[in-house]
Amino acid sequence: MRTQVAIIGAGPSGLLLGQLLHRAGIDAVVIERQTPDYVLGRIRAGVLEQVAVDLLDEAGVGDRMHREGLVHEGFEMLVQGRRHRIDMHLLTGGKSVLVYGQTELTRDLMDARSALGLATVYEASDVTIGGFDGAKPFVTWKQGGREQRLDCDFIAGCDGFHGVCRASVPKSAIREYEKVYPFGWLGLLSETPPVNEELIYANSERGFALCSMRSMTRSRYYLQVPLTDKVESWSDEAFWQELRLRLDAEAREKLVTGPSIEKSIAPLRSFVAEPLRFGRLFLAGDAGHIVPPTGAKGLNLAATDVKYLATAFIEYFTERSEAGIDHYSARCLRRIWRAERFSWWFTNLMHQFPDEGPIAARFQQAELDYLLNSEAARRTIAENYVGLPLTFGE
Ligand code: APR
Ligand code: PHB
Repeated sequence: MRTQVAIIGAGPSGLLLGQLLHRAGIDAVVIERQTPDYVLGRIRAGVLEQVAVDLLDEAGVGDRMHREGLVHEGFEMLVQGRRHRIDMHLLTGGKSVLVYGQTELTRDLMDARSALGLATVYEASDVTIGGFDGAKPFVTWKQGGREQRLDCDFIAGCDGFHGVCRASVPKSAIREYEKVYPFGWLGLLSETPPVNEELIYANSERGFALCSMRSMTRSRYYLQVPLTDKVESWSDEAFWQELRLRLDAEAREKLVTGPSIEKSIAPLRSFVAEPLRFGRLFLAGDAGHIVPPTGAKGLNLAATDVKYLATAFIEYFTERSEAGIDHYSARCLRRIWRAERFSWWFTNLMHQFPDEGPIAARFQQAELDYLLNSEAARRTIAENYVGLPLTFGE
């Protein structure tokens, strides 16, 4: 088998890249190790920046997102029992974000791909990649016990943090920056109306909490928990009880609880690999970087990597220009580091760090006091939250 671009991974990055390439007449095959249902079963964040919304429109998969997504013009920060609204719309000259679950987005991309009859291999085991340091990259895998091989011009590593692509790069050619936070997020999804029209990010003495949503009838809540906690030891009742204790009186009163549809604990990590290009292999999305979820940047960064990568491939195949592929890594990394910084900073601002002692807690309180009472500081939060532009001044 032969194709122009072999895409490893059918998460949002791989599927969006496939869609953008298809629209430009470039042939690609997506190779995924799981089943479609498994991919759709992973519950992840659901806040899209305008830049990501525009990209999904450009990819031709935006209809349901616009019908069902919720436009949010602000969010709330709950600090010392008081809520403060960050009016994104006002502070950024009219910008907003769209709340639309990553699961739904992935489903839209999968549906679009199958409607177009584009080649996707699911349940590929033992995926390996090779030849990317020369002119003839290839991918091999097993399916139903049979060895398969795909030759290509480029490999797009869209296979997430635990994928095979980054792991196939020689250690001497890559540098990895990593910070693991000393807590996780316990998430709960329920068929209940959200407690508030906008998201609430809560800094409480008992730990961080987040009230989010998927629709007006489905809520997503999170609690900061110690890394040693096991999801099995958190009953739904214990979750709701703890959430109530971290919210303000009004939210406590309004909170509608119900059985969980999904409950899981995710560790928090900041991670960046440099560079993102190795000959004819390119890393995009979680394969190249991870942000803690506090700033809701993971999916958005994946989308912008893919935009830069699709543009680079299109330039290569249609204009025979290598400028885009040569600049890919540096262009992505600049935006990635800015989002990494914001996510790290917002995580530090909103969580409890008991090991850092009482002075760290006082610094955090003073910073929050300053931020919430300074319009310039609130604008900084809003500007980062709605997302930085695709291109910065050079
Ligand atoms: N071979 C083939 N596919 C693989 C392999 C492999 N060896 N390893 C992993 N995969 C697949 C995974 O099963 C998964 O479906 O690659 C896909 C990667 O998808 P994601 O982890 O969702 O990564 P990405 O598409 O970059 O999406 C980024 O996901 O974690 C969130 O915050 C992140 O929202 C962001 C988004
Ligand atoms: C979510 O809805 O899952 C969500 C929203 C905002 C975040 C993180 C997660 O910052």
